[in-house]
Amino acid sequence: MRVPIVAGNWKMYKTVAEARHLVSELVPGLQAIAGVEKVICPPFTDLLAVRALLEGTNIQLGAQNMHWEPSGAYTGEISPLMLAELVRYVIIGHSERRTYFGETDQTVNRKLQSALLHGLLPILCVGETLEENESNRTREVIERQLRDGLARLDLNDPTTLVIAYEPVWAIGTGRAATGELANSVVADIIRPVLEELFGAPFAQGVRVLYGGSVKASIAAEFFSQPEIDGALVGGASLKAEEFIGITQAAAA
Ligand code: PGA
Repeated sequence: MRVPIVAGNWKMYKTVAEARHLVSELVPGLQAIAGVEKVICPPFTDLLAVRALLEGTNIQLGAQNMHWEPSGAYTGEISPLMLAELVRYVIIGHSERRTYFGETDQTVNRKLQSALLHGLLPILCVGETLEENESNRTREVIERQLRDGLARLDLNDPTTLVIAYEPVWAIGTGRAATGELANSVVADIIRPVLEELFGAPFAQGVRVLYGGSVKASIAAEFFSQPEIDGALVGGASLKAEEFIGITQAAAA
C-alpha cells in the first residue's frame, strides 16, 4: 500500500507575513484529512516561521532545492545539513531549476546522494519538454533523467524516495496532462526503470506523483489512476481552498 502524498511547491512566492497567513488558512482543513501525507514547500526564508506554525500538526515541511555540500564557500547556497534541522522533504531537479539555473542530471545526482545521506526525503522531478514530447523523445528523456539522476545510489527502502512526473509543457500552463497519459508514463517508463535499477519491490513501493497544472477540479482524474500516488502542486498550492480540495481528492 502506497500512502499518497500531496505536496505544495510555493516556488518564489510568499513573504514571511504572507506565508503565515496562508498556513493559518491551510492548517485546519489539511489537519482534518487522514490517509494522505501533506507537505508544504515554501521558500527558504519562510521555513522557520512555517515550521513554528506546523508544530504539533500532521503537516510536513519541505524545501524546494539544496546544494550538495554540507557546508563551504558557496555564497547564496543552502546546505542539506541546514535543511535537515528544519524539513523532512526536499524537491530535487525541478524543471525550473534545470531550465533557468543550469541543473543537470549530474548535479541532480549529487544532490540526491547528499539529501539521502543527511536523512532528507527527496522528491525527484522528471519530465519531458514540449519539444521532446512532440519529437517522441519522452521515454528517452525520462529514462536518462532517472538513470543518471539515480546513478550510484543504493536504494532498498521505497519510502526513502519520491518521484514526481512533471511534463514541462504542463507546468504553470493550465494545460495538464490527462490522467491516462500520466499513468502510462509511470507504468511504462518510470516504474520499469526503477525496477531495473533497484528491483521490483522498490519499484512497486515507491510513490510517484503527477505535477503540472493540478487543480482541485481535475485532481480526481489523476488520483483515480492506479500508478499515480499523489501530486506535486504549484500555482494551486498558493490558494488554501484549492490545496485543501486537492488533498481531499487524494484521500477519497
Ligand atoms: P503548477 O506547477 O501546478 O503551477 O503547474 C507544478 C510544479 O511546478 O511543481
